[in-house]
Amino acid sequence: MSQGRILLVDDNVDLVDNLGEILEDEGYKVLRATSAATARARAAEGFDVALVDLRLPDGDGTELAAELHRSAPGAEVVLLTGFASVESAAAAIRAGACAYLVKPCAVPELLLTVGQALRQVRLQAEREELTRRAQLAEKLATVGRLTAGLSHEIRNPLNAAALQLSVLERRIRKLPEEGQPSLLEPLVLVRDEIRRLDQTLQDFLLFSRPRELVRRPLPLDALLRKVADLMSGDAEARLVQLVVDVAPGTPAAAGDEGVLRQVLLNLILNALDVSPRGGRILLEGRPADDAVELIVSDEGPGIPSEVSNRLFEPFFTTKPNGTGLGLAIVHSLVDQHSGRVWVDRAGSGGAAFHIVLPRS
Ligand SMILES: Nc1ncnc2c1ncn2[C@@H]1O[C@H](COP(=O)(O)OP(=O)(O)OP(=O)(O)O)[C@@H](O)[C@H]1O
Ligand SMILES: [Mg+2]
Repeated sequence: MSQGRILLVDDNVDLVDNLGEILEDEGYKVLRATSAATARARAAEGFDVALVDLRLPDGDGTELAAELHRSAPGAEVVLLTGFASVESAAAAIRAGACAYLVKPCAVPELLLTVGQALRQVRLQAEREELTRRAQLAEKLATVGRLTAGLSHEIRNPLNAAALQLSVLERRIRKLPEEGQPSLLEPLVLVRDEIRRLDQTLQDFLLFSRPRELVRRPLPLDALLRKVADLMSGDAEARLVQLVVDVAPGTPAAAGDEGVLRQVLLNLILNALDVSPRGGRILLEGRPADDAVELIVSDEGPGIPSEVSNRLFEPFFTTKPNGTGLGLAIVHSLVDQHSGRVWVDRAGSGGAAFHIVLPRS
């Protein structure tokens, strides 16, 4: 993330230019506006801190400040006033501003105030993210306890049924050859269905009772190629190309190979579901500070913002036959690795899932 986006609103063009330049020199991205109307339009581009003049040609700064505050609850507003007075301080507080500056303001004071406001914005964002994660963790734990018990109860009789099925198969194979196919055909179908059920239950169990990780150094290139290999049949069937691209010099991850394979498989399965015919799914690896990053991106429709904060919730699905567990499992397995997973828009316009893992 850049240093921060500052919306600067004042009808004095020179002042906007001057302050804008000072802020840009500090590395901030500055959005300039000389009226309330342009401020509203520019605010839609997203900002962290707004500096708003109290007196604007087409409206009252305090009203605009309150409006900006409502439309961007995570951002902060600082009011600019022509003179220091109890009234302007009171107006600033009423408008929900976190501070006010008296014009012409000294550069150090300006930068200090903007810096403090930005810190406030970031702390608030961190708090929200922590709360979101805590809520998700609690939900995952509840679902985990429930499914562990249930899966166990279902798996036992299922295994017994599978066993009887193999007894049946042996007996059929002892019958005269010509009678066998008509008996074996339904048997194979039932066996496949039982296998599928068992796999689903295994998914549930994996996520409710995560097994101990066996951490080894994992070169990303080998990991991604192996997974691409495993999925090549599915991809070919849908005319989708799996492309592995690992930046030279990327260190190995510290992780459990089987578990990380499952993580990647879930992401690729989702990507395949949305990929257009002839599309590409990119599996990337690259260094990230003192960690490594894996990115799975597709050329599908991407993820609308109202869906993106629910993706990792267990049972959240938009597919008629989805369980909504794929990404919940991904989240819990990455968490187990002390890693982080998030989604954003891919360069292709589709979805890009990022996973950061500790390096070995
Ligand atoms: N690459 C993607 N592009 C667009 N939407 C996605 C993508 N990956 C996941 N989603 C959305 O997130 C939802 C949840 O995904 P998740 O893998 O958890 O469950 P699912 O795929 O619906 O079901 P399951 O994985 O159990 O078959 C999906 O239903 C879909 O709406
Ligand atoms: Mg899925």
